[in-house]
Amino acid sequence: MKIAILPGDGIGTEIVAQAERVLGALDLRLETEHALVGGAAYEAHGHPLPPATLKLAQDADAVLFGAVGDWKYDTLERALRPEQAILGLRKNLGLFANFRPAICYEQLTHASSLKPELVAGLDILIIRELTGDIYFGQPRGRRASPDGAFKGSPEAFDTMRYARPEIERIAHVAFQAARKRGKRLTSVDKANVLETFQFWKDIVIEVHAQYPDVALDHMYVDNAAMQLVRAPKSFDVIVTGNMFGDILSDEAAMLTGSIGMLPSASLDAAGKGLYEPSHGSAPDIAGKNLANPLATILSAAMMLRYSLNQPAAADRIEAAVQQVLAAGLRTADIWSEGTAKVGTVEMGDAVVAALASASTANAKTTMTKG
Ligand code: IPM
Ligand code: MG
Repeated sequence: MKIAILPGDGIGTEIVAQAERVLGALDLRLETEHALVGGAAYEAHGHPLPPATLKLAQDADAVLFGAVGDWKYDTLERALRPEQAILGLRKNLGLFANFRPAICYEQLTHASSLKPELVAGLDILIIRELTGDIYFGQPRGRRASPDGAFKGSPEAFDTMRYARPEIERIAHVAFQAARKRGKRLTSVDKANVLETFQFWKDIVIEVHAQYPDVALDHMYVDNAAMQLVRAPKSFDVIVTGNMFGDILSDEAAMLTGSIGMLPSASLDAAGKGLYEPSHGSAPDIAGKNLANPLATILSAAMMLRYSLNQPAAADRIEAAVQQVLAAGLRTADIWSEGTAKVGTVEMGDAVVAALASASTANAKTTMTKG
C-alpha cells in the first residue's frame, strides 16, 4: 500500500509527522513517499501543485494531506496561491465526495461554545460535493479597469453550475452513507432563489426513489445554518453543494469544541481518497508545538478504513485517541480546567503509547520512505 504524504504549510508538517508516527506503530506494510505542496512547493518549485506532486498523488493508493496556506501569499496571483493545490488535487483526482463528520467526544462536551446538553453525543456527517458548483464553474473573472489593472475594475463574476451526473453521483453517495447510519438524509439547498439548487433538489428527489428506506428532507441553507446551532442533534447525514458545504462544515466542526479534532475524507468514484484534517494551516501557531494533531491522526484512521481496507487498524487508532482523551491529555485548543495541557509531539507520543498498550501483537509496521 502506497501513501503519498503531502504535509504542506504552517502546522501541516507538525501534525502530519504525528500521524505518520501513529501509522508506523501499527502492524501494517505501508510505503510512504513525501512531496511538497502549497506554499512550500511554490517556494521550492514556483507552483503550489508541481507536476511531480500531482503524479505522486495520482499513483498512490491514498493521499495523506496536512494543510496549505499562509497570509503572506495573499497578494500572489490566484493561480499560484497555496489553496490552488488542494483545489487542483480534488479536481485532477476526481475527489467529488467529501465526508466531514462532526462528532462530539464525551470528554470534550464542555469545550463546545454551545450548551453541553445540545452537543452531548452529537454525531452527524456532512457530505459536501467537492468538484463542482461555484468553485469550478466557468466563466469567471474580473473585468479590467480602463488602465488594465484590477484596482478599480468595474465588475467580477463567478458561475454557479452543476451538471446532472455530478448531482446524481453525490446523491447516491449520500443515500448510501445514510443507509449505513441513522437512515435520515437532509439535502441542503437554496431552491427558493437559485436555479442551480432547484435543479439539485429535483435530482435528489429523483435519486431518492432508489432508496425508499432512507428518510429524505430538504432545507434551505440559511435555515440549516440556524438549525445546526439550535438543535444539531436533529441531523443525521447532510448532503449539499461545494460552497454551502464549505461553510456548514466549519460551523458543524465548531459544535464539537474544536475543529482540531475533525478528520475528513475526499473520495473518488472508486473509493480512492485524500485524507486531511478539516482545519487549515494556522500559520499563527505554526512551529510552536501547539497544534492539535488528532484531526490528522483520525484522518489517517479514515484512510485505513475507506481506501486501504484496514478497518481493524482504523478502530485501533480511534480507540487510542479515545483513551488519550479519557486520560485527560489536551492540546491548547481543547484544554479546560483540570486537564493536562500537552503539545503536538506529546499528544502524538500519547497516541502511540496508547496503541502499544492496546496491541497484542509485537509486529510493527514496515515503512519504506521515499
Ligand atoms: C476547505 C477549505 C478550502 C475550500 C480552501 C482552502 C480552498 O476551506 O477545505 O474547506 O474552500 O474548500
Ligand atoms: Mg473550508
